[in-house]
Amino acid sequence: MSDLVLAIETSCDETAASVVEAARVVRSSVVSSQVDQHARYGGVVPELASRAHVELLVPVVAEAMVAAGVEGRDLAAVAATTGPGLVGSLLVGVSAAKALSLSWNVPFVAVNHLEAHLYAALLEEPDLEMPMVVLLVSGGHTMLVVMEDHGRYRLLGSTLDDAAGEAFDKVARYLGLGYPGGPAVDHLAVDGDRSAFSYPRALVQENPATLADDRRYAFSFSGLKTAVVNHLRSDPDASTADVVASFQEAVVDALVTKTRWAIEETGVRAACLGGGVAANSRLRERFVEVCNGAGARAFLPPPAMCTDNAAMVAAAGWWQFRREGPSPLDTGADPNLGLNLIG
Ligand code: KG4
Ligand code: ZN
Repeated sequence: MSDLVLAIETSCDETAASVVEAARVVRSSVVSSQVDQHARYGGVVPELASRAHVELLVPVVAEAMVAAGVEGRDLAAVAATTGPGLVGSLLVGVSAAKALSLSWNVPFVAVNHLEAHLYAALLEEPDLEMPMVVLLVSGGHTMLVVMEDHGRYRLLGSTLDDAAGEAFDKVARYLGLGYPGGPAVDHLAVDGDRSAFSYPRALVQENPATLADDRRYAFSFSGLKTAVVNHLRSDPDASTADVVASFQEAVVDALVTKTRWAIEETGVRAACLGGGVAANSRLRERFVEVCNGAGARAFLPPPAMCTDNAAMVAAAGWWQFRREGPSPLDTGADPNLGLNLIG
């Protein structure tokens, strides 16, 4: 039987398609970003995003199939992200995947976008040891999860307000650094002094036991964003590089401190990063340091697999298909889909 999965990803502003073999060999991965179309509005405009997906999807899928050297009949399944995301955008990819599944007579697999981010690290390291702690940091989500096994996730905590990527985007927007803000901040922070300003690290204490159980692994970034804005109002001449480096350090500190607590409390021997913010160079550096210091191996997806792409969807889809078989063709797009948690 074939181990080839074609996956389609259209949950936000990237139109992506990829063919992956057995969740480990990326035969093709095409990502067409609409960033330029949204940048002038300072964020993603949902209506523009769905229209762009309609225009881009067929050429993107065709390119992924040609680059992989496969035809429809060679595939084991066609997977698509069904949520969470922008409903109009999701619908374009889901409808296309179902149409291809019907016309090629291959099974359809509905993939959760958050789960796909968790699988990005497994593309490089398919034999990752489980259980492991996963820090998922994207534009819409920030959560610490224990991945007990394939498809089995236990939530330790998530953000109470803004996602980490959202905080990067909002601070960057305030500073006029453009959209998306994360890469711009990352780039500029290299020239800044990360200890220049001491911004707050919410819900981070010396001793985790002093935090209530439901706060220990929770994150909060909206106060940090406000602290940066208030600081800039009172000190408009502050060096932008120092401000972003200090801001980035505060975000990274909160993320890696709670990852360390999670490793120490659960005793797991592996930890991995996922989501667009996992492309951040300072987070990658500190994550490895902290995990190794706590006795766990750290796994990082390559930066191109951190931000939205379809290869991670194909990997998650392949494992899910092996476990559960095809998804019903009446599975709809679900903008609020959550991770299927245990416990
Ligand atoms: O995972 P993703 O591509 O889309 C969502 O599922 O949300 O994540 C996008 C987010 C954006 O907020 C973007 O600013 C952030 O990831 N991001 C970064 C970096 N690259 C992307 N944040 C910090 N540093 C980066 N290098
Ligand atoms: Zn994403």
